[in-house]
Amino acid sequence: MPSADPNSTDDHDHASNVARQIFRDKTGAEASHVVYAPGRVNLIGEHTDYNGGFVLPMAIGLGITIAARPRTDRRVRMWSAQRPAEPVEFEVSGAMPPGEPAWSNYVRGVIAGLQAAGAEVPGFDAVVHATLPGGGGLSSSAALEVAMATLGELLAGVTLGPERRALLCQKAEHDFAGTPCGIMDQFAVVFGKRGHLLLIDCQSRERTLVPMRGDDVSLLVINTMVKHELNDGGYKSRRDDCYEAARRLGVGELRDATPRRVDEARALLPERLFRRARHVVTENVRTLAAVDALRAGEWQQLGELMYASHASLRDDYDVSCAELDAVVAAARGLGLERGVFGCRMTGGGFGGCCIALVQAARAAEVEAALRASYRAATGIEPTIFATQPADGPAVLLQP
Ligand code: GLA
Repeated sequence: MPSADPNSTDDHDHASNVARQIFRDKTGAEASHVVYAPGRVNLIGEHTDYNGGFVLPMAIGLGITIAARPRTDRRVRMWSAQRPAEPVEFEVSGAMPPGEPAWSNYVRGVIAGLQAAGAEVPGFDAVVHATLPGGGGLSSSAALEVAMATLGELLAGVTLGPERRALLCQKAEHDFAGTPCGIMDQFAVVFGKRGHLLLIDCQSRERTLVPMRGDDVSLLVINTMVKHELNDGGYKSRRDDCYEAARRLGVGELRDATPRRVDEARALLPERLFRRARHVVTENVRTLAAVDALRAGEWQQLGELMYASHASLRDDYDVSCAELDAVVAAARGLGLERGVFGCRMTGGGFGGCCIALVQAARAAEVEAALRASYRAATGIEPTIFATQPADGPAVLLQP
């Protein structure tokens, strides 16, 4: 089990040893490189990134480790510890198309991006080992992309710099995985810093580290165990709605509109577009207010903003689901008296995880109560873990 300490050397060592052992078993050779990239969770600021808005995510202490060794030819052979039935094999070439299995596209897309940036990536053998659940809304895809980019840069002997690396990974997601995502996930993974939330202005790409103060609060991640597919159209249609709403409002991006402007333009917008726009502009206001609350240690205020964010995502943006709502209702039911400040769905939605802000001293009690309520409401056993802001990618072994 990962320890409570994010990015503890023990966790890195353990994951690295597991990946290296599988590498030995598969290839009969020693890995020469080991890299790691974390997953992320978003505290608040949801579905705002592709509207030029504000987001407040953090990297977490669970992630993806890759153990690898370059080859003398251009062949890539990869194995995933979590997907043993889906080995990957392909050739690095100038024009690399997407292919099978689906998870290989995060790798193919990143290599294609590195090649387009002029990096000569050689063939390699590699083993991927995840401590992060896949498809659970904790950005396992961004973690894999960023770990792969870190490895690819090492193997090619180039350094892109963190911002270019993050953008290259986002492009891989667009072109190879078919998800037209914003920049939040890849930026959160690349720029994550222990002890800090990361406020990103997605219009200017400016980043501000906001310290997570106080030992008196804990963040719990509650995985509904219901999986979502962001490339099935629900995500893209929200994005298209936002672009159309911005066009009708006469602004470049919804970031440039205010709640008042959207209210005044209600008659110009079909009901659905109005609700989409209202979510985005109010979420931007909530995210900046959350930064103030975090800085001031106003936990009750921060918790209320999280509940309001959830309601807006559920009612205006239509990206929640019964399971996510069940977690939030259970958290609300416990309330301040039982140590819960706030709770909301986190990530793209349609399943995945919730994040709850709770009193540290009562975190175990809250966890048990949420587990029991969720089980009673849905019949599903959730995974719940406490998390803290962790560091971004790391190179754990290189020659
Ligand atoms: C997914 C996307 C992000 C962001 C969130 C919603 O995680 O990858 O870019 O849009 O959904 O906030």
